[in-house]
Amino acid sequence: MATNRYSDETRTRRLDPDSFANGYFRNAVYRHWDPYEDIPQELLDQDRERLISREQTEQQFDVLRRTLALFGAGEEAVTDDLAPLAMAIGDVDKQLFVTSQLYEEAKHAAFFDRYWHEVIDPVAEARGFEVTAPTDPRYFPDAYVESFDRTERAMDRLLADESPEALAEAFCHYHLVVESVLAQTGYYSIQSAWSPTGADMGVDGEPIHLEGLVEGITRIRSDEGRHVGFGMHEVQRLVAEGVDPAIVEDTLSELLPLVAGTVENPASEVDTTALVEYATEKLGRRIEIITDTNADLPPVETLVHVEGGRDVSTV
Ligand SMILES: [Fe+2]
Ligand SMILES: [Fe+2]
Repeated sequence: MATNRYSDETRTRRLDPDSFANGYFRNAVYRHWDPYEDIPQELLDQDRERLISREQTEQQFDVLRRTLALFGAGEEAVTDDLAPLAMAIGDVDKQLFVTSQLYEEAKHAAFFDRYWHEVIDPVAEARGFEVTAPTDPRYFPDAYVESFDRTERAMDRLLADESPEALAEAFCHYHLVVESVLAQTGYYSIQSAWSPTGADMGVDGEPIHLEGLVEGITRIRSDEGRHVGFGMHEVQRLVAEGVDPAIVEDTLSELLPLVAGTVENPASEVDTTALVEYATEKLGRRIEIITDTNADLPPVETLVHVEGGRDVSTV
């Protein structure tokens, strides 16, 4: 009988339950959450009321608004940019995982869209501030645009070039810089400012706790822990199989100034030097792990664990 794409004599079952990718996929299914129902309406209503009664200038409100615009656009961009990886990745268990990641990036984009519509715009209206669109060009610094444009090019290249080097570069752009260093640094800054121990003070001098925002971001950070772990696992494998580690190191260090240029915001009250240090340290630690083929990555359950606004994994 002729072979076809449905038959495969090297496999006795379709999926490999012992593969790391299958474990990651099962973790994604188990930890599924709904960006509409699982972040309760009451929490968003409470965030809105707290922001309306906060003593603030339009410029201070814009710091929060700008951060949320960057995240909303980023999640939309990565949803769009991931599809070529699903086509290039080959292995079926990895394909299952990448489809779960695509769905999760789409859910992240949906959460930020919901937050803007239900919290940000009503606060601007109530306070007499200019109502702005999350797509307004004012929110996107050149460094941000450049880092997402480069990521898009690295991902699109996979449509024509599925070589191990092209895959390694794609993972470096997408999983290790954009959604690891850039996104996690930004989420860390939001959680530092708007959680119970946060830096942002309300009218009575108490930190303002935006529980709806922090709840959404905690769920998103947990998903991102799994995505980043998958990328690190793949880059480590590609290096072990012969990709020159210099490709990884060069790609990451070329992108780091763009990360710094994105998180630095002169209008922000958050200490951006500390954020850039946090980003640099995270990236340095990751380079060490993925270029050391003997280094063990933490299990996926550890990578998705976000506690008290902090990810507890050492990567
Ligand atoms: Fe995401
Ligand atoms: Fe992600």
